[in-house]
Amino acid sequence: MELTLSSGTEVVIRPIRPDDKARLAAAMARLSDDSVRKRFLAPKPRLSGTELRYLTEIDYIDHWAEVAVLKRDPEAIVGVARWIRDPRDPASAEAAIVVGDALHGQGLGRALGAAIADAARPRDVRRFTATMLSDNVAAQRLFAAISERLLVEHDGATDAVVAELAA
Ligand SMILES: CC(C)(COP(=O)(O)OP(=O)(O)OC[C@H]1O[C@@H](n2cnc3c(N)ncnc32)[C@H](O)[C@@H]1OP(=O)(O)O)[C@@H](O)C(=O)NCCC(=O)NCCS
Repeated sequence: MELTLSSGTEVVIRPIRPDDKARLAAAMARLSDDSVRKRFLAPKPRLSGTELRYLTEIDYIDHWAEVAVLKRDPEAIVGVARWIRDPRDPASAEAAIVVGDALHGQGLGRALGAAIADAARPRDVRRFTATMLSDNVAAQRLFAAISERLLVEHDGATDAVVAELAA
């Protein structure tokens, strides 16, 4: 799917592929410390080979991920969104989204969120769960935008969010 962000930057959103390992590692390395902390709730210097395999060699049934790449430079991953089904509750999946700092606030997070929600519905995932820092307003708004109902449970510095997906 092609998309023009509010800044005019053109991106392509597509499912992640096994050959995205180096692109994903490079994208992670470009993220600011603040974005890494918000995405992983911890500092995370670099992804191991095992983690890169886990993140790119997915089954598209219980684990789905989309990347956004620049249209003018498809080697540059500028956003990633994924969900992983909860084996104990197959209608639930843990979701996570990250957008490269240079493109924050231009609608890409919301588009990635909508893309993974579109992939979730036909695979019988009805809700996304996520843990985020309580002051992460952008993430909360994003999950609110893609859901019919949003439950937020405060737990100290973090919020546990349950987003019931719109049908
Ligand atoms: C959260 C994140 C993915 C949002 O992506 P984005 O492309 O910047 O977001 P969008 O431009 O699509 O905006 C999504 C919503 O957040 C709001 N928003 C964006 N940046 C904001 C900011 N800095 N402060 C407050 N609200 C903000 C937008 O207004 C929009 O809400 P609306 O639709 O109600 O107007 C991005 O900020 C990010 O990568 N953060 C670090 C990682 C992270 O926090 N991941 C979430 C944990 S799973």
